[in-house]
Amino acid sequence: MCSPKTLSAGLSSNQGSSLFTAGNLSNKSILAGACAKRSFTGARPLKGIAGSVPEFTTTSGDGARKTANSVAYWLIGTSGLVFGIVVLGGLTRLTESGLSITEWKPVTGSLPPMNQQEWEEEFTKYKDSPEFKQLNSHIDMDEFKFIFFMEWIHRLWGRAIGVVFIAPAVYFAMRKRTSPQVNKRIFGLCALLGLQGFLGWWMVKSGLDQEQLEARKSKPTVSQYRLTTHLGAAFLLYLGMLWTGFDILKENKWMKKPIDASALFKKLDSPMLRPLRKLSTALLVISFVTAMSGGMVAGLDAGWIYNTWPKMGETWFPPKRELMDSNFARREDQKDLWWRNLLENPTTVQLVHRTFATVAFFAVFGVHMYAVKKKPFIPKNVQMSIHTLMGIVTLQVGLGIFTLLWLVPVHLASTHQAGALALVTSSLILMNQLRRPRAGIRNVINSTLAKELKRSTQQAGTKIMSETAKLAK
Ligand code: HEM
Repeated sequence: MCSPKTLSAGLSSNQGSSLFTAGNLSNKSILAGACAKRSFTGARPLKGIAGSVPEFTTTSGDGARKTANSVAYWLIGTSGLVFGIVVLGGLTRLTESGLSITEWKPVTGSLPPMNQQEWEEEFTKYKDSPEFKQLNSHIDMDEFKFIFFMEWIHRLWGRAIGVVFIAPAVYFAMRKRTSPQVNKRIFGLCALLGLQGFLGWWMVKSGLDQEQLEARKSKPTVSQYRLTTHLGAAFLLYLGMLWTGFDILKENKWMKKPIDASALFKKLDSPMLRPLRKLSTALLVISFVTAMSGGMVAGLDAGWIYNTWPKMGETWFPPKRELMDSNFARREDQKDLWWRNLLENPTTVQLVHRTFATVAFFAVFGVHMYAVKKKPFIPKNVQMSIHTLMGIVTLQVGLGIFTLLWLVPVHLASTHQAGALALVTSSLILMNQLRRPRAGIRNVINSTLAKELKRSTQQAGTKIMSETAKLAK
């Protein structure tokens, strides 16, 4: 809310109140000016007003250009498409469709086979793949068409994201709708998107190449390392788009309402929020790492063993010889025993995922308890986010447990994957809400407020002079 009280609160309390009372300011004019202000020039240090307002130091900012809200909506919308493709990618894996297209043709591959002859050709190529020979030699053309279309839609969706992302990115940059800082981020996201296309094919290749499969002593499935890298890049792309979109909306809102922004900055600067800020970063990292360990479980089909919870079979932990099985070591001196088991042994990988999930749950629970205890110091929106996070992590753990107990049914496993995205999203929102404003935006807000005060002081001074002159007459 715009009010003289909040405007003065934005500056140091003494400065604000002394200016308002001593100068007998026209509050309305301050409010009208400060609240209506929409565009700002770059941050510039201001001279103090009657010695009461300090000089604000100039720090790095964006320059004069701010990013349009439409850019934020586009980024958040595109992140929704990335959410969708992650879930679709999971479904492609769960329906074992991912290895049905044996080539990578970024442009010509946009079209599916158009007639019977083209379908026959495509099927013949698939018949030459290790997956068909070792696992799927029984399937007919109709079944092939189903797995083909699952993978084809996944790839087409990826191409669509490329177009929906890159074309507007160029347009916004050319129309100067983006600040230089946002331009850099969008460029980074474009690069990540391009890389993601390569990672997808790099992953698929690991399931088509007989030599690689033999080296891994694996049935025809993709490497769990490559699957998790592909999944991780998708999560990063998604989070990067959301983070940038939220930042733009937040900063534009602050610039539109500098008084509110200034009061919020004061809250965010409070030492009481410092631990929570650090914890929110930790939560995002833990959620992300847990999700990646889930990718390893999925990549190794490790959800098909130990389908019990909370115990693993009859005991809390599988026997050590099974967790650290020497068959997984490839070096003669067995120096790789530990890490190979942690990353390649399905039993150990499942235990790792259970452990991370437990840590993630209790970390969120701990933060929730902390937030309840410190409620008076925590902004309302932050409290809401923590409650939401608590709900989502509980749901996610429940989904994970039932995915395991019920032997990885497609609908549950897919919902569990979407739940992981929801979890990182809510962690990201919490972290974004608690982040202190960067120096550039703080500077813009401060100089806007100082300008408004200066202008109002001058107006009030003129009014006093004219009133005094009237009285003197
Ligand atoms: C914070 C909690 C959790 C997160 C963020 C999380 C995240 C994930 C992710 C991202 C995947 C990969 C999905 C895919 O690529 O298809 C996954 C798979 C899996 N998770 Fe979790 N998980 C959590 C908790 C749990 C728990 C508590 C269990 C069971 C005790 C569990 C069991 C599984 C299983 C069995 C899979 C493999 C499903 C498949 O093959 O598709 N998860 N998890």
